[in-house]
Amino acid sequence: MFTNSGVFIMYKILEKKEIAMRNTWYKIYAPHVAKKVQPGQFVIVRAFPNGERIPLTPIMWDREEGWIVLVAFTKGKTTMKMAMELKEGDEILNVAGPLGNPAPMEKFGKILAIGAYVGIAEVYPIAKAWQEIGNDVTTLHVTFEPMVILKDYFEKAVSRHIVEPVKIDQEKSFQENTKNVTKALTAKVKELLDNENWDLVFMVGPPGDQKAVFEVVKKYGIPMKVDLHPIMVDGTGMCGACRVTVGGEVKFACVDGPEFDAYLVDWDELIHRVGFYSKLEKLALEKYMEELKAKGVI
Ligand SMILES: Cc1cc2nc3c(=O)[nH]c(=O)nc-3n(C[C@H](O)[C@H](O)[C@H](O)COP(=O)(O)OP(=O)(O)OC[C@H]3O[C@@H](n4cnc5c(N)ncnc54)[C@H](O)[C@@H]3O)c2cc1C
Ligand code: FES
Repeated sequence: MFTNSGVFIMYKILEKKEIAMRNTWYKIYAPHVAKKVQPGQFVIVRAFPNGERIPLTPIMWDREEGWIVLVAFTKGKTTMKMAMELKEGDEILNVAGPLGNPAPMEKFGKILAIGAYVGIAEVYPIAKAWQEIGNDVTTLHVTFEPMVILKDYFEKAVSRHIVEPVKIDQEKSFQENTKNVTKALTAKVKELLDNENWDLVFMVGPPGDQKAVFEVVKKYGIPMKVDLHPIMVDGTGMCGACRVTVGGEVKFACVDGPEFDAYLVDWDELIHRVGFYSKLEKLALEKYMEELKAKGVI
């Protein structure tokens, strides 16, 4: 894509907006991804010259116009730097993809598709496609009140969209508050499973919440699929950073997944592995916040 001054920009940011607290929408020109991407696949993005590669999920795309939409939750340094420093018209250095396997497009019947926090964004293309091929899809979004996203899109795309907004208790830490999201999530899932018959449960969200929901679902014996989010580096099967144990076998989520059968996942190992770099991640974020303070940005 050429700018007005004739410079070629590969992955131009066509649109950037904060759609809810800590949730940023990026519409990016990436024709090679837009042309081929299927629901359930992801991309690896590197936004800055010395930056890391992070996986994000195209949630909408236009094959002819060549754009994709990503929604990123501001979690640590990279997503914070993207939210703070990228502007419309800027270029993203690399957008590699589509990666991973498409979600299976089958007639399962009545599906409960759950998204915790920004996970609902990743549920969107899959739930929409499942509904389009004849499934009866109910989507459930559980998150903090100011973080509700994409409600209008879901209401148009699926049979029923349920939002369970959880109030943020300002007296408590973010970590403490997340426990209320887990509680609301498991309570709502239990209520839905008690009152209706389901053929499939699907969920995207933090692994701790996926495990908590799975513990509820397995009591009912309903099939459950999950999109897993282990740490990824290349996203193409070359390093094994994203390895997960599924049914006693080592799988690489970037090439064998990201979708797996929840009944076969070693949840405790996954939860342990995603927290592996938490000290370094905290340090990187603190350092970046100091830089922003020194520049007078915050
Ligand atoms: C297949 C896949 C699709 C994803 N899609 C989305 C999406 O559409 N929107 C969204 O907001 N988030 C998505 N994520 C999660 C997103 O990649 C992380 O939030 C992001 O990498 C955090 O980077 P950070 O530097 O801001 O935070 P950090 O401080 O680096 O990390 C915070 C937490 O994010 C996770 N994380 C960090 N680096 C990676 C990495 N390279 N790969 C995977 N997880 C990581 C870890 O659990 C970590 O504890 C996806 C993850 C995967 C694996
Ligand atoms: S991220 Fe390297 S093998 Fe999956």
